[in-house]
Amino acid sequence: MSSAPVTGSSVPSDLEHIPVLLSEVIAALSPKEGSIYLDGTFGAGGYSAAVLEAAPCVVWAIDRDPEALKRGENLAERFPGRLNFVQGRFGDMAELLAARGLTGVDGVALDLGVSSMQIEDRARGFSFLRDGPLDMRMEKSGRSAADVVNTLSEKELADIIFIYGEERHARRVARAIVEARRERPFSRTLHLADVIRAEVRRAQDGIDPATRTFQALRIYVNDELGELERGLVGAEKLLRPGGILAVVSFHSLEDRIVKTFLKARSGSAIRPSRHTPASLSAAPATATFTPVSRRPITPSDEETHRNPRARSARLRVAARTTAPMLTALAGGLA
Ligand SMILES: C[S@@+](CC[C@H](N)C(=O)[O-])C[C@H]1O[C@@H](n2cnc3c(N)ncnc32)[C@H](O)[C@@H]1O
Repeated sequence: MSSAPVTGSSVPSDLEHIPVLLSEVIAALSPKEGSIYLDGTFGAGGYSAAVLEAAPCVVWAIDRDPEALKRGENLAERFPGRLNFVQGRFGDMAELLAARGLTGVDGVALDLGVSSMQIEDRARGFSFLRDGPLDMRMEKSGRSAADVVNTLSEKELADIIFIYGEERHARRVARAIVEARRERPFSRTLHLADVIRAEVRRAQDGIDPATRTFQALRIYVNDELGELERGLVGAEKLLRPGGILAVVSFHSLEDRIVKTFLKARSGSAIRPSRHTPASLSAAPATATFTPVSRRPITPSDEETHRNPRARSARLRVAARTTAPMLTALAGGLA
């Protein structure tokens, strides 16, 4: 296993993605000979490569970004017949694999958010530091960030920026966006970043005031939280008994979704009190997951020093039980 970024692509090495919590994810999945793993967020292939190196197993890799999979071709050549690509969303993982004749896997890994290559490529429009088209679409289709800021109402924008960006000044930012677009519709990242910076002062921690609004727009444009909810349910469908789910999240909104899902599915959402009938307080036989650890796993100081992007990462791991999915829960988070 190696924590080095996968090389051999056309992206300069300093822009390549360093896998986060790699050894922890591989330890959780514990790859075994003949088993099948799903890497739902292929990116630069760091997790896939490490799983394939750890045991003679098979990996199915999903990414919604066509460029990520194109770059992965080198890796597939290194592991002939063992790495299969599917372009699509991990929220559709069960359907995507079923269409390829696969109904069960032994492990699912999700490493949420965007890769360093996506952020660093100014043409993708994720960065508030480099000028580029205000795009932010991971799969290069659908509604762009420019479409969103140019067409949504002030109230809708304020809600998105407040909820997904956790920006205290969301209303002010939304008002400034609506005023600015009357003069000139947004098409470039730096135009938007400048409008936000004129409105919100740099915080004492030095974080760029555009950070939170850009995060909010990215989450909204890519429906990242909806994808996460669907992906968790998809993993519940796909994982065989004993199969492992490992999810790395980067902000509290994502982590809360994973935590709530695992709590509900492991039966621990039911808080027994002395008034609760014994029949309800027992862990339900329908629990579909057992959490592997109570607390999320976080990166070591050494990792955050080497890769500051890992700073906010949290890994949650759970094992699939033998219980079948409850159809009532299968459509989304209960
Ligand atoms: C943080 S990177 C993953 C990095 C990877 N673990 C590695 O070691 O190289 C996230 C990747 O997931 C992809 N992605 C994000 N949301 C997705 C979704 N809902 N479905 C499929 N791919 C997604 C992004 O396009 C990006 O390439």
